[in-house]
Amino acid sequence: MTSIAETLAQGTALLRDSSGSPYADAQLLLAHVLNRGREWLVAHGDATPSVPEIQAFQRLGAKRSRGVPVAYLLGSAGFYGREFLVNENVLIPRPETEHLVDEARRFIGDRPLRVLDVGTGSGAIACTIAAETPASVHGTDISPAAVGIANENARRLGVADRCHFCVGDLTEPVGAQRFDLVVANLPYVPSAEIAREPDPIAYEPREALDGGPDGLALYRLLLDALPPLVNPNALILLEAAPPTIPGLSAIVRSALPHFAITVCRDYAGLDRYLRISTGVALG
Ligand SMILES: C[S@@+](CC[C@H](N)C(=O)[O-])C[C@H]1O[C@@H](n2cnc3c(N)ncnc32)[C@H](O)[C@@H]1O
Repeated sequence: MTSIAETLAQGTALLRDSSGSPYADAQLLLAHVLNRGREWLVAHGDATPSVPEIQAFQRLGAKRSRGVPVAYLLGSAGFYGREFLVNENVLIPRPETEHLVDEARRFIGDRPLRVLDVGTGSGAIACTIAAETPASVHGTDISPAAVGIANENARRLGVADRCHFCVGDLTEPVGAQRFDLVVANLPYVPSAEIAREPDPIAYEPREALDGGPDGLALYRLLLDALPPLVNPNALILLEAAPPTIPGLSAIVRSALPHFAITVCRDYAGLDRYLRISTGVALG
């Protein structure tokens, strides 16, 4: 019989060369298999999982050692304090994207505004805004599978009545509707820089990553379409890769010359998103 502590030690050894956090990954995978919390594992190191449980853990460990992200193996990822269903059809929501939600919350306050989330993926931004504010949110995505997951996340989080997800190209599904807030975390990795296996990012959908030759192809198209869709005092929040932020600012300046642009940093201190509003730029 193999104990939890021994199983974790074996899993950690297996993942040592492929993961930056082998022990944490092994813990998460074993906790998932045993349907327990990580704290429970720590407190029950002498307990002995069944043979099928150990085998299930070993199968997950083998996939993780080939680079498959833990979130896909668990089927779930945390974002802004909530758990979101994720699989290989959607980008795993990133902590830096939480800044967009912070900005959205500050802007919306307690107003029932209309929000558009372009390239919604798992619906992480859209569902969180709906959960944190009284806004109603329209989300679009080119991927039918992503829209299915976004709908399921909205249902699980109890915000389906204020989340409307549609399959389609950028803003095409919303026609001529107007919005008070537009958020977008569109694919922004330059095509030549997309990671390859076993990098975990290579397991994420290419259509969620590939931003064309300079990373800004989709943002160019979005900014062409956006001006008639935003209300006069609207706020627009666009996330991008730090090196592409100056290029994105130039595209925004030409599409929305009367708006002020503020470049905002992420938790790592890197230029990460643009805050575009009719107010004065903040720096
Ligand atoms: C970087 S992911 C962001 C997902 C989610 N908003 C988030 O922050 O986790 C970009 C998303 O844009 C979608 N996408 C790519 N091209 C698109 C297009 N032309 N129109 C709408 N969505 C698109 C992808 O399918 C993907 O779900």
